[in-house]
Amino acid sequence: MKKEIIGLGLESSCDETSASIVADGISIRANEIFSQIDLHRDYYGVVPEIASRAHLETINTLIELALNKAGLSFNDLDYVAATSRPGLVGSLLIALQSAKAISFVLGIPLITIDHLEAHLYAPFLEGKKPVYPYIGLLISGGNTAIYRVNGIGRIDLIGKTVDDAVGEAFDKVSKYLDLGYPGGPAIERTAKNAKNKTLFLPKILPGSNDKRFSYSGIKTAVITHMKANPDTDKSETAYVFQERALEILVRRVFAAARDERIKNIVIAGGVAANGRLRELLRNEARRDENLIIASPLLCTDNAAMIAGLAYHYHIAGKHDSLAVDVNARTALSSRA
Ligand code: KG4
Repeated sequence: MKKEIIGLGLESSCDETSASIVADGISIRANEIFSQIDLHRDYYGVVPEIASRAHLETINTLIELALNKAGLSFNDLDYVAATSRPGLVGSLLIALQSAKAISFVLGIPLITIDHLEAHLYAPFLEGKKPVYPYIGLLISGGNTAIYRVNGIGRIDLIGKTVDDAVGEAFDKVSKYLDLGYPGGPAIERTAKNAKNKTLFLPKILPGSNDKRFSYSGIKTAVITHMKANPDTDKSETAYVFQERALEILVRRVFAAARDERIKNIVIAGGVAANGRLRELLRNEARRDENLIIASPLLCTDNAAMIAGLAYHYHIAGKHDSLAVDVNARTALSSRA
């Protein structure tokens, strides 16, 4: 019987520490995640120094937990992978340095992974085989972009935000409305209680051929509206903001897929957990369009997507040296 290839993935680019074990790039054996949300809540955002300290304090425990859960030991690992970019430099260093130590001591290959490429791979850890090419919409607290994914490491940027990311807009509006942190789930929960569904905020970037996004103006629109109409129900404001913020994502991603004549559409990143977005996407998809969205746990930051994607680099012999460094920016190519 063919031996499985087992990889350990490590992730610490922002405010989740994670250690995961994946077999053959598709089968998750353990996916241990420690979320730092409680540590950052009072600040309504991620505090870099708090984040890197917390990564350092938890990563070894998570690696042990992952190995135990998978019923494996260090000696069963064929490769070790870590996110090396993009992210907070002090945070990225924790997973990468841990992976380097494991690679050095065990004598197994080290593979560094671009976090954004890993997000776009995440839905293929749930039994679906990767299908190329596909259009990938990546939506999180730090990114809002559409890519054409041609294969492993072969990704073209189609369009991205010119200012804020969509998740950032959810977090800022939630802060303004005093709904809690992180803003995405808080706005989604609150919006469900809206009785009046009049769309009183303006549409974002109405230009139909534009491939870019812009989210900085919508926060001002919410503030201006609330100042002029202080009695507006918060759930109605949350509802309208959410509709306006999501409709542009749906419009842009289907326009890109149809422009490029691509039927496979992957939606990835923390905001992809939004139930209303999933509903809007399903309503818009044509019968022959294949919408691929990870379950909510795999939409947010996790190391299973790091180990899973790294498997493909591993079998292609694309390993990194111990001299590899972290980088705050993504390596994904830009066409926009
Ligand atoms: O991918 P992610 O876990 O972390 C990075 O930003 O890298 O995404 C976090 C972002 C936050 O801005 C959060 O408010 C948003 O995703 N988010 C959501 C939902 N769940 C998380 N936004 C809208 N609706 C949600 N249900």
